[in-house]
Amino acid sequence: MKAIVLYKSCSPEELNISEFPVPEGKPGWVLIKVRAFGINRSELIMRSYEANSPYMKLPRIPGIECAGEIEDPCDSNFTKGQRVIALMGGMGRSFDGSYAEYTLVPSKNVFKVDTTLGWEELAAIPETYYTAYGSLFDSLKLKPEDILLIRGGTSALGLSAIQLVKSVGGTVLASTRNENKRDLLLSQGTDNVLIDNETFTEQLFSLHPKGVNKVLDLIGPSTLLESARLVRHHGIICSTGVLGGKGMLNNFDPIKDLPSGIYLTGFFSNYPTQEIINDIFEHLNQHKLRPIISRVFSLDEIGQAHTLMENNTANGKVIVRI
Ligand SMILES: NC(=O)c1ccc[n+]([C@@H]2O[C@H](COP(=O)([O-])OP(=O)(O)OC[C@H]3O[C@@H](n4cnc5c(N)ncnc54)[C@H](OP(=O)(O)O)[C@@H]3O)[C@@H](O)[C@H]2O)c1
Repeated sequence: MKAIVLYKSCSPEELNISEFPVPEGKPGWVLIKVRAFGINRSELIMRSYEANSPYMKLPRIPGIECAGEIEDPCDSNFTKGQRVIALMGGMGRSFDGSYAEYTLVPSKNVFKVDTTLGWEELAAIPETYYTAYGSLFDSLKLKPEDILLIRGGTSALGLSAIQLVKSVGGTVLASTRNENKRDLLLSQGTDNVLIDNETFTEQLFSLHPKGVNKVLDLIGPSTLLESARLVRHHGIICSTGVLGGKGMLNNFDPIKDLPSGIYLTGFFSNYPTQEIINDIFEHLNQHKLRPIISRVFSLDEIGQAHTLMENNTANGKVIVRI
């Protein structure tokens, strides 16, 4: 089969198609014919430097998610030809992932989907909407009366979160560093756009003098403690992204660094279940939500797909169609 195989950390231009054996089915696993997959930041991190880490076993086919058809159900209850999505659980990291014509995935990370969406739109959903949905409705316990700030609003995840907040009637403020992306945020239903510059907190407090009551922080540890000062008493901050490039809080003093009565949480997309995937597709169907697709590439254009995301000019989900 054709596959993108990582032998070491490399530049986007060095990602090339290789011939690789089609994986063989085995008990507990499912062979999927990949139809399309979304590109993720974690794949950029793995390609650019993490592949050289001692804990990464190479060669490795990257790709943490995909949409496709069951090629070999092995000992699972899936049937050949069934439309499925697959994500996470070590996909593309501890075992080979979706940057290929076929991928072998543990059956617990494969989910049937009830949708009429085409392959490209379907491929834009698993990781992005699962993470947005979990962050908002599980971690942040989003309610229609909430005023939510999304930091990193123009990311694929941010845009999907804006849609989801508006679908339940919440108020959403979304941030970008780039004034030119204001219309992108407004087009998804953002109530107020905040420009992430030195006047950021003033912009927020001029709109909501008491602050917001929830924050979805996709920039992460580099902005988290500032976010904590933008929420009202008993507000919640969910740290889901690391767009700011900092993955951890150093010397974090929970007593002094967090205002009293502010709740800090996170969301990790590693544990999807069929029940939650069903809820997400039902929600998308019911509210007629469609993913924002930036561009669709072919497998041999994978380097261009990585470059587009790396340049922060995608403005939506980057998709590769097999
Ligand atoms: N917790 C989980 O399980 C989980 C799951 C999926 C994704 N994630 C994380 O969620 C984040 C969003 O993922 P995505 O795929 O949706 O990203 P994406 O679409 O590639 O995000 C692109 C946006 O990121 C913003 N950005 C880039 N660098 C930034 C910086 N230094 N400071 C502030 N903003 C910056 C840019 O916004 P502007 O140029 O408009 O400012 C750009 O439009 C990533 O950190 C990803 O790793 C986490």
